[in-house]
Amino acid sequence: MKVVGFVGSPRKRGNTTAIVNEVLRGASEAGAETKIFNINELGIRGCQACYKCQTPEGKCVQTDGMTPLYDEIFSADAVVIGTPVFMFQITGQTKTFIDRLFALLYLKDGKPGAFKNKIKGKKVITVYSQTQPETGLFASSFDLNEAVLGFLGFKVEGRIAAGGMAGPDSARNTQTVMDQAHNAGIELVK
Ligand SMILES: Cc1cc2nc3c(=O)[nH]c(=O)nc-3n(C[C@H](O)[C@H](O)[C@H](O)COP(=O)(O)O)c2cc1C
Repeated sequence: MKVVGFVGSPRKRGNTTAIVNEVLRGASEAGAETKIFNINELGIRGCQACYKCQTPEGKCVQTDGMTPLYDEIFSADAVVIGTPVFMFQITGQTKTFIDRLFALLYLKDGKPGAFKNKIKGKKVITVYSQTQPETGLFASSFDLNEAVLGFLGFKVEGRIAAGGMAGPDSARNTQTVMDQAHNAGIELVK
């Protein structure tokens, strides 16, 4: 089993990375091969809306940091997508990454809006890190993000929303969050 983590935080050693890494550690202990990518440092441009990817075999025509990530996703059994909360929402980096996952869809018979999936039921765990302690505060935003992931063909297996994450080491120092992440990784491999 292969599990790939994607982190949409500009803080490479921050909370989101710590939590995603802990999910991957759990998955690795349970026998998975794991990898992690920091979306922020890969130079991923926005979708150019050319629609060239929208055929059953269609690929994104851009060549940039996103290019190798498609194969990573196609070959993974499960992914972990983590983002800090910026302005109540996923970060711009994460949004750009998810926009580029448009290439996981195609249009049946080229008909506008008749979307079909190139992946089906690939597991995803979402991770959110925020300063506000109340994790329900941005739930509608997380729900929307996960609805998009479901539309793209992922099966959302779990959500880790960590509140009170003010400094970059908050997650590492919060045992309940680390335990939740570790267990989620183990469960993912079952
Ligand atoms: C531009 C910006 C916007 C933010 N907006 C929010 C917010 O709306 N709600 C919140 O609780 N925290 C907000 N935060 C705080 C981060 O979500 C928080 O520090 C998070 O733990 C950072 O994760 P990281 O260490 O992985 O980067 C914001 C931080 C920045 C830099």
